[in-house]
Amino acid sequence: MTVPTEVREHTDAGGLFHVGRRWTDMDDWHARVAEIRRDEPVLRVDAAGFSPFWVLTRHDDVFAVSRDAAHWKNTALSVLGPDIAAREMEASGFVPRSLVHLDDHEHTAHRQVTNDWFKPAVVKHRQPRIDEIADHFVERMRELGGECDFATDIAQPYTLRVIMDIYGVPESDEPLMMDLTQGVFGANDPEFLGEAADPQARVMQSVMSFIQYFNGITADRRACPADDLATVIANGEVDGCPMGDAERLWYYIIVATAGHDTTSFALAGGMEALLAHPDQLEVLRDGSRAGGSADASVVRAADEFVRWTTPVRHFMRYATAPATIRGVDIPEGGRVMLSYPSANRDEDVFADPGRFDVTRPDADKLLSFGVGTHFCLGSQFARREIRTFLAKLLPELAEIEAAGPAAWSESHFVSGVKHLPIRYRFR
Ligand code: HEM
Repeated sequence: MTVPTEVREHTDAGGLFHVGRRWTDMDDWHARVAEIRRDEPVLRVDAAGFSPFWVLTRHDDVFAVSRDAAHWKNTALSVLGPDIAAREMEASGFVPRSLVHLDDHEHTAHRQVTNDWFKPAVVKHRQPRIDEIADHFVERMRELGGECDFATDIAQPYTLRVIMDIYGVPESDEPLMMDLTQGVFGANDPEFLGEAADPQARVMQSVMSFIQYFNGITADRRACPADDLATVIANGEVDGCPMGDAERLWYYIIVATAGHDTTSFALAGGMEALLAHPDQLEVLRDGSRAGGSADASVVRAADEFVRWTTPVRHFMRYATAPATIRGVDIPEGGRVMLSYPSANRDEDVFADPGRFDVTRPDADKLLSFGVGTHFCLGSQFARREIRTFLAKLLPELAEIEAAGPAAWSESHFVSGVKHLPIRYRFR
């Protein structure tokens, strides 16, 4: 008897990595993936509509491949999609050219354009604005009167405002940016599909709207440069020449999208975990009484939020030559999936990895931001945003608890807690 694809995708091991719905029950996901990590750490997946790929589930393997950019390339297909989407992309000639799609010199040269903006000293310089924005959203929680959806009312608009502030995009355009980001990252989730016929169409619509929007921004910042990231990208040069039109547009898109949903999922998902582990909430509240966003307790807790939630679920790498990983042969051109959420629960690296622990001394071994030449450009911002919000909110709260079940978004690329009803009382 043939098992229908729909049923197989719900139960087979490979489906855990490419079927959006499998990412909506993370306890189940982690329990199953722990078995895969133990028994078949380099898992070959043959799924209908996808050419084969191998999932790397161990920390060591994700680390080693990420660090070996000479033998493992990102390519334009660095995010896993069905083969038909790759064929359509090629036929349309509309090939993505953002940092995560570039390799070798092209990648380094384009990354150089904004690199200075993301250095620790520069990011630190923006702390007063992050403080102001965090204050605003703590105040928003107060105004909401004791109940809200922490994910949609607070985490999403807070993280969006920080990134848009860096960009120099006005507050009035934030709803558009929110919609476009969800279109790019959340297209598989029916809630974010909008009026599009299918997820691929939704992604394309969002990309087109981003292009239109950022063409306007480029013209403006070339005419009137400002102290913002949009100005740096609009006027960016690569090897002494103005950046190409496609690369510039993809640059805007990657920073806008990668900078927002990721951090929002880490903050909302971390809060969900805190409420599910009240002892950890108490530990953190005790530690944060001293206050301040550089306080050791919020620094560790923010890392644990990012390890625990691991909002970027994967990137792909392509072999330039035949390779063998843990005895499994991967042919030249073969592709591996770097499973960051699995690597972050690797028993060989993290003590009792399934325990949410805001004082965890090994949390900084997290691979949530990747490692190597593509290491997340915005990790300093993301960490600061989370620490700052915790440092501001916790001393203000007398009580906080879940007011209903949380919901996780359906996506195998960037996903996490999309709804988190909470009840709370300020001091
Ligand atoms: C918790 C929040 C975040 C997570 C989990 C995250 C995760 C990641 C991961 C896994 C990568 C790929 C790393 C690799 O291939 O080795 C990446 C790349 C990137 N991230 Fe983040 N990110 C976050 C926040 C941000 C923020 C706030 C920004 C911008 C302000 C940002 C901008 C980027 C960019 C531009 C890249 C491409 C870098 C390259 O390919 O050279 N990210 N991020």
